Amino acid sequence: MATLPSKGITVPASLLLLTAAAALLLFLLLSSLSPAPSSSSAASFSCPTTSAASSIAAATGPPDPISPTLDDIAWLKSQLVLNSIQEPPSSPAAWHSLRKGINPRTRDQQLEDLRRFKGVSHYKGDDAENHTALPCPEELLVEEHHSNYGEPWAGGRDVFEFLATAASLSPADHVLEIGCGTLRVGLHFIRYLDPARFHCLERDELSLMAALRYEIPSQGLLHKRPLILRGEDMEFDRFGSDVLYDLIYASAVFLHMPDALVWVGMERLSARLKLEKGRIFVSHNIKFCSRLGGDVCTNRLTNLGLEYVGKRTHDSLLFNHYEIWFEFRKLKA
Ligand SMILES: C[S@@+](CC[C@H](N)C(=O)[O-])C[C@H]1O[C@@H](n2cnc3c(N)ncnc32)[C@H](O)[C@@H]1O
Repeated sequence: MATLPSKGITVPASLLLLTAAAALLLFLLLSSLSPAPSSSSAASFSCPTTSAASSIAAATGPPDPISPTLDDIAWLKSQLVLNSIQEPPSSPAAWHSLRKGINPRTRDQQLEDLRRFKGVSHYKGDDAENHTALPCPEELLVEEHHSNYGEPWAGGRDVFEFLATAASLSPADHVLEIGCGTLRVGLHFIRYLDPARFHCLERDELSLMAALRYEIPSQGLLHKRPLILRGEDMEFDRFGSDVLYDLIYASAVFLHMPDALVWVGMERLSARLKLEKGRIFVSHNIKFCSRLGGDVCTNRLTNLGLEYVGKRTHDSLLFNHYEIWFEFRKLKA
């Protein structure tokens, strides 16, 4: 049997090996029983777990898809079947008869409730002072502004999907909307784009209030820091003197503006549009141009370095409707 030299005492090597193995076993057993380290110490000492690794992958992974696929639509239809959802009733009375719950309300009734603090829990007595970080007007809470401009709110998603696809948009791109209203469309761009990439010039106070006091906070988009400025003068320097846009669009706006102001805008926008890749999209019509006559209109655009690419339409996902868009790009600086 081999022995290790020592001062007078001889310990067998096998005994030493046995002792070391037992100590190692004990250490492993104790560490498996001890509580997990706090998240702060875990962050500095542990390797990433599977879920941490996958959340990092998600954060750096591809952006969310812009449009639904045929599979997505088939899946949704299968869920309607799965839940035995019938064709929708055709009369208002039949609709209302489907509403369940202790206190079904119309939007007007809900507004009345909120105003009179009925139907909503709230603090009383000494504790009744404000507990809300961003108190929001009741009219916005019941989403009256979703019909401020007539078109269904859901159409905003259609416009986003069309424009983002047409402009081959990436989250790091820069987008400018003129007249974003209550953010029917802009909300989807803000969600898709990286922080601070969405800019808008809007003149209407009520729309700005709805956008800033309700839509952005209620959609969890505060961290996206969109830059929305009040103005009606086509003054885009206020967004920064060096920003160039990948996409500039005006949804149902230019048709309501005087032609002269639209041309002021087009001149300034041309200076802000990325050469070749950048796109300007204008919805509904371009009478500001066609009213001048074909050649005059084309020449004026050419002098601004712009080219009219063509007219495009897109359908809505949820209602039988299509929208018309006029596309421009910049060919020379
Ligand atoms: C019909 S709404 C469309 C709103 C939004 N783009 C949408 O599709 O839901 C027209 C918007 O353009 C805004 N607008 C009109 N003239 C403007 C101007 N000169 N400058 C900025 N915004 C303007 C209006 O205040 C309004 O919010």
